[in-house]
Amino acid sequence: MASIKFILFLMTAALLLVSNGARAFTLECKFSDYLYDKNYKCEVVNLNITTHNQIESAVSGAHIPRRSNADVIILSIDGQTAHYLPQDLNKFFPNVTYLSINKSGLREITKSDLKNFPQLRNIGVRGNDIENLPGDLFEHNTQATNIAFATNKIKSIGKDIFKSLNGLDSVNLLRNICIDQQAANRSEIAEMMKRATECFK
Ligand SMILES: *[C@@H]1O[C@H](CO)[C@@H](O)[C@H](O)[C@H]1NC(C)=O
Ligand SMILES: *[C@@H]1O[C@H](CO)[C@@H](O)[C@H](O)[C@H]1NC(C)=O
Ligand SMILES: *[C@@H]1O[C@H](CO)[C@@H](O)[C@H](O)[C@H]1NC(C)=O
Ligand SMILES: *[C@@H]1O[C@H](CO)[C@@H](O)[C@H](O)[C@H]1NC(C)=O
Repeated sequence: MASIKFILFLMTAALLLVSNGARAFTLECKFSDYLYDKNYKCEVVNLNITTHNQIESAVSGAHIPRRSNADVIILSIDGQTAHYLPQDLNKFFPNVTYLSINKSGLREITKSDLKNFPQLRNIGVRGNDIENLPGDLFEHNTQATNIAFATNKIKSIGKDIFKSLNGLDSVNLLRNICIDQQAANRSEIAEMMKRATECFK
């Protein structure tokens, strides 16, 4: 009897956790063909995320004829409120190569936010409130070529964050707290990171 009670207790606890912790919402996109039909774009609108654990359960917005979520190459969050990224943001857009998050109050970004963007090449997170770039942030984005985190509040960076990205062409870390530099090729990036000792404390 005791064990059945205990199991019921566990089930209730799990249910409460799901209903309290995670909130589902619909991501609203304004879709457009950007640059001569080559790059299908979702510009996120009406986004307001101020807590962790917001789970994206659907995408809304009128597609251009014969286009679908899988065609989205550019995902842009610009001038929105996104203190955190929704979980599963990447689930709906498997082919995104360019992720841009500008001026949306983003406070943190982790490898799980980026894990389902295997095609990601260009990552621009400008004018936000990021304080830390974890060393494993790009673990799943091995094709990255251009990374920009200019004008954030970065105080710490994982030392080897760019080491395994063999195709990396440029990194822009201008106007942060522990660093104010950019680099435009592999050897410059390595040099820049060697000098960035303020960020490794
Ligand atoms: C955004 O969400 C917060 C918290 O739920 C709420 O207080 C605020 O009014 C919302 N802002 C807008 C513009 O909807
Ligand atoms: C984000 O800001 C950068 C730098 O100002 C700009 O080049 C880029 O076009 C912006 N992204 C979007 C989607 O507006
Ligand atoms: C997008 O991704 C899907 C699933 O991963 C794939 O089948 C499709 O070919 C891709 N489309 C483009 C345009 O890359
Ligand atoms: C990297 O860029 C610097 C400065 O622009 C240049 O002097 C250097 O030759 C470049 N190195 C490579 C390997 O392209």
